[in-house]
Amino acid sequence: MQLFLVITTLILSIVYTQPSSLQNVSSLESSNQFRANEIKNAFIYAFKGYKKYAWGHDEVQPVTNTTSDNYNGWGVTIIDSLDTMIIMGIEYNDSREFIKNLEFTAKGSSKKISVFETVIRYLGGLLSAYELTKDELFLNKSVELGNVLLPAFNTPTGIPTGMVDLVKKKGALGVNGHNSVLAEIGTLQLEFRRLSELSKNPIYLKKAQKVIDILQRKCTELPGLYPVFINPYNGTFTTTLVTWGGLGDSFYEYLLKQHIMVQGKTSQYIDMWMLAVNTTMKKLVYTAKGFSNLTYLAQWENGEPFFKMGHLACFAGGNFLLAGKFLNNTSLTNLGLNVTATCYNTYIETNTTIGPEEFGWISPSDVISSKINKSQKAMYKKHGFFVTDASYILRPEVVESIFYAYRVTHDPKYQDWAWNIFKSINKFCKTSIGFSGLEDVTNITSDWNNSQQSFFFAETLKYLYLIFSNTSLISLDEWVFNTEAHPLRIGGG
Ligand SMILES: *[C@@H]1O[C@H](CO)[C@@H](O)[C@H](O)[C@H]1NC(C)=O
Ligand SMILES: *[C@@H]1O[C@H](CO)[C@@H](O)[C@H](O)[C@H]1NC(C)=O
Ligand SMILES: *[C@@H]1O[C@H](CO)[C@@H](O)[C@H](O)[C@H]1NC(C)=O
Ligand SMILES: *[C@@H]1O[C@H](CO)[C@@H](O)[C@H](O)[C@H]1NC(C)=O
Ligand SMILES: *[C@@H]1O[C@H](CO)[C@@H](O)[C@H](O)[C@H]1NC(C)=O
Ligand SMILES: *[C@@H]1O[C@H](CO)[C@@H](O)[C@H](O)[C@H]1NC(C)=O
Ligand SMILES: *[C@@H]1O[C@H](CO)[C@@H](O)[C@H](O)[C@H]1NC(C)=O
Ligand SMILES: *[C@@H]1O[C@H](CO)[C@@H](O)[C@H](O)[C@H]1NC(C)=O
Ligand SMILES: *[C@@H]1O[C@H](CO)[C@@H](O)[C@H](O)[C@H]1NC(C)=O
Ligand SMILES: *[C@@H]1O[C@H](CO)[C@@H](O)[C@H](O)[C@H]1NC(C)=O
Ligand SMILES: *[C@@H]1O[C@H](CO)[C@@H](O)[C@H](O)[C@H]1NC(C)=O
Ligand SMILES: *[C@@H]1O[C@H](CO)[C@@H](O)[C@H](O)[C@H]1NC(C)=O
Repeated sequence: MQLFLVITTLILSIVYTQPSSLQNVSSLESSNQFRANEIKNAFIYAFKGYKKYAWGHDEVQPVTNTTSDNYNGWGVTIIDSLDTMIIMGIEYNDSREFIKNLEFTAKGSSKKISVFETVIRYLGGLLSAYELTKDELFLNKSVELGNVLLPAFNTPTGIPTGMVDLVKKKGALGVNGHNSVLAEIGTLQLEFRRLSELSKNPIYLKKAQKVIDILQRKCTELPGLYPVFINPYNGTFTTTLVTWGGLGDSFYEYLLKQHIMVQGKTSQYIDMWMLAVNTTMKKLVYTAKGFSNLTYLAQWENGEPFFKMGHLACFAGGNFLLAGKFLNNTSLTNLGLNVTATCYNTYIETNTTIGPEEFGWISPSDVISSKINKSQKAMYKKHGFFVTDASYILRPEVVESIFYAYRVTHDPKYQDWAWNIFKSINKFCKTSIGFSGLEDVTNITSDWNNSQQSFFFAETLKYLYLIFSNTSLISLDEWVFNTEAHPLRIGGG
């Protein structure tokens, strides 16, 4: 009797769940669990390809199955992806073993390393892995790496050089010659602060803080905003270019995040950030001619605005949203939502539904800063922007801002935006062993660029995964992300 009941129930449930689960494909696809899992599977797929064809090299070239070593040759994919594996619950024993045996010495032809890239990808990755696991190995390696970077600060001003020569153990000029880059000298404070706190050695924080003190004392044409090149030997600015995009971007990002990390114990960072944003609102925030609901961030050069914006600058939407949350400031929240929606607009209005590297628009008073042709004009008329660089290199900034929009508003609309982007990446960027950047997002048969940047694992897939996960996973009340999406704990180490 009981057995019969069990069997009947079983048969009934098979009969009934089968068709309804078929009818429910779309509801299944819209479930957060399904989406998070698809993103995790994409990570596993790409990591497997890297492991098979490029283990220990910086990156795999996902079209030719070959390797590249442009980030010191220390296996940057392994370290940059580690905290995402921890967060997604993927076993990482081989990665740990690799890191255990890694030495931060010159590999191959790269005797000079970029301070900025090494800090955000390697040091940020190691510190985050330590904070998530408390595995002492990752802290030990962080200290080793921090010491390798210190010679960069031995300049007359204390402003670090762009590179370190690993053989001479000295600072070296970066790719921008005699200039250091604002976003490079101002994007190591979170990592160096935490390294000092965890290692109980104040030297790293002292060096990093000096840069902020120097900048705060400088008067500039646009209060709170700084030109992107500065000479590290005499401390003078050598350009007038001001931007929230590449070369400027994460300096502003880190001012706010330092404020959050120290829980407002000093007002220095938020004063500097607020001044920058006040001026930005006055001088750089623009709508577009015929599109009053689009909100762009202009650049500034030679005394005037330049109506051009890069994919990199799209991080700013998320930065304003994070500030809106922590400062309880709805005008910042609204600005953040507007910029995020405007950046998403550059995705949905291309043929691949993936956004371009750089775009322009026409100012409300009819100024066009770029030379544009007929088809760009036509595109502008329809969509409120035109493409000036059509490549996509698997960058995260738009999903990053969508992540903040979701965390701040809980509006499922933002999950749908993120899912649309993931589907497009899956459709257009997936190769036989991983994911590749595109040469032309306006072309549905675009060539691949044969590059799978480590930030695809560190940032793009992490933010996408978190958008579909419980908001308590890496809560914004407990963690602050470095510019490579490596979470560091708010407050003490
Ligand atoms: C689909 O699933 C939802 C719950 O997940 C349920 O409420 C709904 O009735 C199902 N629809 C169909 C057509 O079975
Ligand atoms: C790369 O590897 C994949 C999977 O092993 C294979 O299908 C593909 O043909 C390879 N590509 C090249 C260019 O060798
Ligand atoms: C990974 O390492 C952990 C801890 O040392 C160990 O318990 C586990 O069995 C290892 N897993 C595999 C697949 O080797
Ligand atoms: C970390 O470094 C300390 C001090 O040198 C050492 O005692 C410890 O064994 C190291 N831990 C690991 C996991 O390597
Ligand atoms: C600082 O150095 C740069 C590059 O060498 C030079 O162009 C500039 O004039 C110097 N500025 C001052 C104030 O010495
Ligand atoms: C920003 O502007 C507001 C009002 O416009 C003002 O109250 C505030 O003091 C300014 N903050 C800074 C740091 O300039
Ligand atoms: C919100 O932030 C804006 C931009 O910096 C500032 O002008 C304004 O005074 C702030 N509002 C409040 C209530 O703090
Ligand atoms: C945030 O601001 C709103 C309106 O400006 C106010 O009602 C609310 O109490 C504030 N919340 C906090 C936590 O300060
Ligand atoms: C955001 O956009 C809305 C609608 O287009 C507009 O009313 C509002 O002023 C904008 N807010 C900011 C801070 O840009
Ligand atoms: C702007 O407004 C148009 C027309 O109402 C709408 O289709 C579009 O989605 C809006 N775009 C943004 C980014 O809000
Ligand atoms: C992009 O889409 C437009 C409109 O659908 C079409 O006219 C154009 O040919 C497409 N371009 C490419 C390169 O696919
Ligand atoms: C689109 O890309 C293909 C290469 O896959 C190229 O042959 C074609 O000319 C491109 N179309 C346009 C309009 O650029």
